[in-house]
Amino acid sequence: MTELKNDRFLRAMLRQPVDRTPVWMMRQAGRYLPEYRATRAQAGSFLDLCKNAELACEVTMQPLRRYPMDAAILFSDILTIPDALGLGLYFEEGEGPKFHKTVRSEADLAGLASFKADDDLGYVMNAVRTIRNELNGEVPLIGFSGSPWTLATYMVEGGSSKDFANIKTMAYDKPELMHALLGLLADAVVDYLSAQVRAGAQALQIFDTWGGALSAAGYKEFSLKYMQRIISRLPTEADGRRIPVIVFTKNGGQWLPAIAHCGAQVVGIDWTTDIGVARSLIGDRVALQGNMDPSMLYASPARIRKEVASILESYGHGSGHVFNLGHGITPGVNPDNVTAFVDAVIELSPQYHQAD
Ligand code: CP3
Repeated sequence: MTELKNDRFLRAMLRQPVDRTPVWMMRQAGRYLPEYRATRAQAGSFLDLCKNAELACEVTMQPLRRYPMDAAILFSDILTIPDALGLGLYFEEGEGPKFHKTVRSEADLAGLASFKADDDLGYVMNAVRTIRNELNGEVPLIGFSGSPWTLATYMVEGGSSKDFANIKTMAYDKPELMHALLGLLADAVVDYLSAQVRAGAQALQIFDTWGGALSAAGYKEFSLKYMQRIISRLPTEADGRRIPVIVFTKNGGQWLPAIAHCGAQVVGIDWTTDIGVARSLIGDRVALQGNMDPSMLYASPARIRKEVASILESYGHGSGHVFNLGHGITPGVNPDNVTAFVDAVIELSPQYHQAD
């Protein structure tokens, strides 16, 4: 294996000393980049792009050519697992992801296809291997999955949802069915993330985009418990290096102490939580990732720089912070504003690491 030239991201995740705060962005490969839109057009569709290892590798590399990010993230989607389980994923322009079939009954659950990551999502593993090879040790590669709860929301609702009416009815009225589905998904996620590590992923993120739609008790029962189960079963090392895990529950700011005990090395936070407050609550157990409001990237470079300064100041001195947005970058952002964001982290963060 090629030696890793920049391990700042992996070190910060383990709260080891670094020269400056590492930075990457959720959805860094995406529609705000004209070169992404061109490659997607060449592939035909978003799903064709995910299934073509060369082109998935190309779009993974695009943001790294523009910005000195400290990590690359696999280009794929969290909905590959429900697709492989036989639900039939498709995207309708402007409407987001949809499924031909849903899971709302015991019979639907029993009808799901059996799942083996290396066989059924071999195209993802091909992409991981191709990207690792192309990265040539420049920066680490992040693999990812959705959380069981977040995947289940799409599978039960049949797509995106505002009120989660169907899945919440299931959770409250048919908890056994809900838990059977979540248990099946947890097994699939363990298999999927383990396969990504074997293929070359060096860190893992679990996206729990919709955990924050649950009640406090519901979050622990239907989301956190399954992420904890997954993490306890993942490989902890590859090539002699620790594989750190990031758990990102959007709108999970109220439950940080519980999240900090799920076994993840890093807790991702959205912009509604003050990162300094989060650090005082859980910074002795875990590293933090986040948390600039993605909409700040619509503001001027000067305003963006001020926001980066204030987040760095709020986190304070020492390692254990991975700079990121509080959620994915949006398609309307001007790519030049991302330059201002990344440059600000690079220029303003070394002072917080001097005595490390
Ligand atoms: O971060 C990265 O650069 C890696 C790629 C990545 C994508 N999706 C690419 C993508 C990752 C990590 C995801 C995760 C994902 N997918 C999540 C969890 C993170 C989050 O944003 O909360 C969720 C909920 C999904 C499901 C999904 N896929 C949605 C809601 C959408 C957007 C639909 C829309 O039209 O806005 C997608 C499609 C998708 N996934 C795109 C990209 C770049 C846009 C597709 C396109 O090119 O049109």
